[in-house]
Amino acid sequence: MTETDIPHIVKWLVAVPLWQRYQVSTTGARARFEDGLRQGHILLVCDWGADNRTVGFTWCLQHGVFGLSAYLRLIGVQPDHSKLGIGAALLAHTERLALEFAKDMFLLVSDFNVDAQRFYLKHGYTQVGAIPGYVLPDVTELIFRKRLVDVGREGETTLAMNPSSKDM
Ligand SMILES: CC(C)(COP(=O)(O)OP(=O)(O)OC[C@H]1O[C@@H](n2cnc3c(N)ncnc32)[C@H](O)[C@@H]1OP(=O)(O)O)[C@@H](O)C(=O)NCCC(=O)NCCS
Repeated sequence: MTETDIPHIVKWLVAVPLWQRYQVSTTGARARFEDGLRQGHILLVCDWGADNRTVGFTWCLQHGVFGLSAYLRLIGVQPDHSKLGIGAALLAHTERLALEFAKDMFLLVSDFNVDAQRFYLKHGYTQVGAIPGYVLPDVTELIFRKRLVDVGREGETTLAMNPSSKDM
């Protein structure tokens, strides 16, 4: 991800019902992505099609949990490009990069976001805890964990990542 990707990603992000529920604003999201780039977090994009449109992204903090483990802060694929394996490819690439820094990946997923929970379970994550009312008062954040040391032994994804996708 580069700074020029941010306006496009944020424009679509604020229209996603999930993030609307978390009251993600254009200004706030832009500032957070810019800060993530400055701090050198793992920020990847997937560009797709002849026009190289950015249709997915991940954001991972190398030492975001307990000072020991990586934290997958966000992953998103544009709704009109879902179920094509883009999320799986982005997740796998992020995990491989995170493995250079950490043995485990953690993430939070909303209790109502059952589709994302199924996605993570399918990719080797297990629920290890839950935090009621952590971000929104009426939502429990489920804590998911994956041991990254197993990542190298998984099958490689065949989806090509755009060369601009890199660990910033
Ligand atoms: C969760 C999310 C990142 C998944 O991205 P995705 O690109 O749709 O994921 P994939 O295509 O790899 O896998 C999703 C499904 O498509 C299926 N799929 C994968 N490749 C496929 C293909 N080539 N053809 C058809 N289906 C396919 C998978 O089997 C999976 O099925 P499932 O829903 O039964 O588990 C995406 O749906 C999203 O952005 N959701 C909104 C934001 C969100 O919830 N983020 C996570 C919390 S921060």
